[in-house]
Amino acid sequence: MSNHSIDPIKGADHSDVTTDFEILVEKALSRRMFLGAGLAFGAQAFVMGAATSTAQAQSRSRLNFDPVAANSLDTITLPKGYSWHVALAWGDPLWSKGVAFDEVTRGTGESQELAMGDNCDGMAMFNQGATSVLAVNNEYVNIDIIHGNRASKKAENADDVRKSKAAHGVTVAEMKQVNGKWAVVKDSKFNRRITADTPMELTGPARGHDLVKTAADPAGAKVLGTFNNCGNGRTPWGTYLTCEENFNGLFASSDASFKPTSAMSRYGVGLKSEYGWLISDERFDISKHPNEANRHGYIVEIDPFDPSSTPKKRTALGRFKHENVEVVIAASGQAVAYMGDDERGEFIYKFVSEGRYAPGGDNSTLLDTGKLYVAKFNDDGKGMWIELTPASTGMASQAEILVHTRMAGSKVGATTMDRPEWVAAHPAKAEVYCCLTNNANRGIRPNAGGDDTPVGGPNPRKANLYGQIVRWRPDGGDHVVNGFSWDLYVTGGNPNVHTDEYAGSKNVTKDNTFNSPDGMAFDTTGLLWIQTDGSYSNAKDYAGQGNNSMLVGDPETGEIRRFLVGPRQCEITGITWSADKKTLFVGIQHPGEDGGDSHFPNGGTTVPRSSVIGITKDDGGVMV
Ligand code: FEO
Ligand code: CA
Ligand code: CA
Repeated sequence: MSNHSIDPIKGADHSDVTTDFEILVEKALSRRMFLGAGLAFGAQAFVMGAATSTAQAQSRSRLNFDPVAANSLDTITLPKGYSWHVALAWGDPLWSKGVAFDEVTRGTGESQELAMGDNCDGMAMFNQGATSVLAVNNEYVNIDIIHGNRASKKAENADDVRKSKAAHGVTVAEMKQVNGKWAVVKDSKFNRRITADTPMELTGPARGHDLVKTAADPAGAKVLGTFNNCGNGRTPWGTYLTCEENFNGLFASSDASFKPTSAMSRYGVGLKSEYGWLISDERFDISKHPNEANRHGYIVEIDPFDPSSTPKKRTALGRFKHENVEVVIAASGQAVAYMGDDERGEFIYKFVSEGRYAPGGDNSTLLDTGKLYVAKFNDDGKGMWIELTPASTGMASQAEILVHTRMAGSKVGATTMDRPEWVAAHPAKAEVYCCLTNNANRGIRPNAGGDDTPVGGPNPRKANLYGQIVRWRPDGGDHVVNGFSWDLYVTGGNPNVHTDEYAGSKNVTKDNTFNSPDGMAFDTTGLLWIQTDGSYSNAKDYAGQGNNSMLVGDPETGEIRRFLVGPRQCEITGITWSADKKTLFVGIQHPGEDGGDSHFPNGGTTVPRSSVIGITKDDGGVMV
């Protein structure tokens, strides 16, 4: 979801933010922390860039490309020696009975049901033999673009709603590379659209609880649809995990006097929606169906190779505004899922399965039973996972905790974070990274549950415009244990404008400056690919930062280089590789979202369309 549309940031007053950060930096430097081969952990390690000189970093850099300068062009900019192409764009038909994208109508309900959805986000490529199947989220729609054929630029009738609902969810498409470029295999038996109306099942402890029962589903077990599918995960057993984020935005009330409950308010479920789904679907009316919203906000597991399978909403992983999920297998064999809740002052979570992963065996219920924890970060560089149970929270049942997970986190005093976005686990060691994209409210106002948002710990800057990446290392390298150490890998910032902590950590320079880290993934070599969703104004606090971009970092040295600049008003989000690693797929979401002058990807006067692009090296090398 666009940072721009949900998190407008006006110029912040930085004048009274100083001492804690400066003291911490001074302490760290005085300890002469050296982060060459090993990694120092502690509250002060956000200065790690300072510990490794630029010359040292460059002389042994693993970043084998010339960094790209920031720009405000309406195209993709890559380093010399790399090329890109559109692999799959909003409105591309998946079946031969579909029709090509219509620039005038921007599609109908019927054409959209047969085509790639809008606003591509998290994605994963799955491979079986020579077959490659891409599962990609379609997070939401840009209403003034998708309904640009209407004078109101909004949904006006039932077919507009049908189109909007079909543009949400997940697209599953077999992809093939022909003459170097990837494209959908039309009519493949694997092609599938999962939308806001696709039947799915609630599984896990909240299934059947009163909070998820509705008139249409008195058993609280069958749900229609998934929407606001943001980041993703993938499991070692070959399934796709899609993460429901800003589901609240689709709900509204036909009764203006309806009083949302405190639980609704905590999740932002309110009286108005700009999407207009109430025109033809009463279940989005909270005054008539108050529990429907409790059936969304989960992680959904999908078998990408079985189009007839029923997606499963895994309630054991909690209900919040799920960004993505990173699944690792602990030494014990238990599946551990790390997850962020993207809202100002919300929390980071960990699920630990009760059962063990069975390679080649049946893992179909592994995500249904286990323990859910929330993170507490202490200022001394240590932290603790706190289990959410009726005993620890005082809440009535585990099912209630899993539906009202945010309230459970508040009850145990979890650390309010600067909008946790994607989580990524290092491929070779027990070390986990999370983007904290920004938080204009840090140190200014509490979260929606009334929890304080003090400046400090992993959220060290008041009115945080630029974001940071926190990482933690579980004690003993064991993802199952409750204790961990943490530090900040990087604090974003803008040295073009600032000289204080808003310039960012020492590994942020005028060359690689960025704001609002969001999407993130490790490649197999341990390089960290970082995607941004921030201000693209290129002015004032953001001067010189250009359009949203993708950077690559080497966590061993702290070095970060910009690899890609996106088109105007886009967000870069979603990342996966081809089986041979020679193509890197990246999501270009909402180009021109703000009515800006984008016609990406087709140029001229065409409608801007969110697109999955494929990036290859001109010498045919691997993209890792
Ligand atoms: Fe959909 Fe938090 O980004
Ligand atoms: Ca974001
Ligand atoms: Ca995001």
